[in-house]
Amino acid sequence: MTDIDESPSDRPRAIRPAWRRGLGLMGEAPPAMIGLAAFALGTVPEVAADWSAILTAVCLAVAAVYTARYAAQLASASSRLEWALSVPAIVDLLAILPVPLALASGAGPAPARLFGALWALKLLRLNPALAMLARVIRNERQSLASVTMAFAVVVLISATLVYLAERGAQPEAFGSVPAALWWAVTTITTTGYGDKVPASLVGRILAGGVMVSGIGLFALWAGILASGFAQELRRREFLESWDLVVRLPLFRDLGASALSDITRLLKVQHCPAGSAVVRRGQPGDSMYFIADGEAEVRTPTARIPLAPGQFFGEMALISGAPRSATVVAVTAMRLLRLDVVDFRELAARLPELLEVIEAEGARRGAAVPA
Ligand code: CMP
Repeated sequence: MTDIDESPSDRPRAIRPAWRRGLGLMGEAPPAMIGLAAFALGTVPEVAADWSAILTAVCLAVAAVYTARYAAQLASASSRLEWALSVPAIVDLLAILPVPLALASGAGPAPARLFGALWALKLLRLNPALAMLARVIRNERQSLASVTMAFAVVVLISATLVYLAERGAQPEAFGSVPAALWWAVTTITTTGYGDKVPASLVGRILAGGVMVSGIGLFALWAGILASGFAQELRRREFLESWDLVVRLPLFRDLGASALSDITRLLKVQHCPAGSAVVRRGQPGDSMYFIADGEAEVRTPTARIPLAPGQFFGEMALISGAPRSATVVAVTAMRLLRLDVVDFRELAARLPELLEVIEAEGARRGAAVPA
């Protein structure tokens, strides 16, 4: 495989409407960042003393930019009231109103600029990964709640034990369970400010146990979130592949169960225009189905166009010989890749599919010069 870049940043824009939407949203981020910088600088007394008017003007300009965008979105919304009451629209409104309203109500430039902190919400909303994080947390809420509960129990028990062990020697630091809770939280998170330190042997052994169990609980949290993210990514990949697989003529007559098996085996691969997907003479480890875009097969004597729905790269998998031709992406392409191991599994499960692929491979092989 050559010149193929599967990184999101290089995905062809023409076939990534969601990605393009993402880019559009990112265009909204710079004003928020400028506004946040003005808000933060405005809290530095030396800067605010000399630049107050400019910082306030920047904040108002940012609010004006968002006002124009808000008005445009409102005008183009199919149901304006419904859009205005949605969470994104409310966040947009919070990016517009507070600073000018505070100024108009006579709060003074410095306090008014503090409302600029609300532009951070805008950045949060523009982050596409946030929706995914929210979904993962929702999916894993029970496991996360169990670990949180375990965390709370360890904090409470360790605070009680350290209270029993230390209250005599250090009544000001460990004189009550609520006072000891602070120590328990900073210890279980392994933050350890050192403002409260157990002096007795029992207290120190306890501290060690709390630290170790804290690391274990956080590792559990991280593990739950990581597996949740992996599951969510697999689900998204499956949905994207499914949409493409059902469009391929080769799979049109298959039942849902076979389609689902195939979808699990195929991997979506994006490929920029002009790149070579396979090169003549190289060993072959995958075949490809064209979901979007156009390719060209280049043999020493011919150039054969391939359209969406067609496949290539099957000959090397069937014969074990090197690639018989170079296949180049004429336009940006979205391919479904079937690796050799999965090809064999699919061939065993759906022999009629293998027959069709073999017949096409044989027909093409007859046309390729040695
Ligand atoms: P493979 O030999 O694995 O890699 C190059 C691919 O180009 C080949 O499999 C076929 O899928 C495809 N190919 C080769 N010759 C032709 C042809 N004459 N017509 C269409 N496709 C071809």
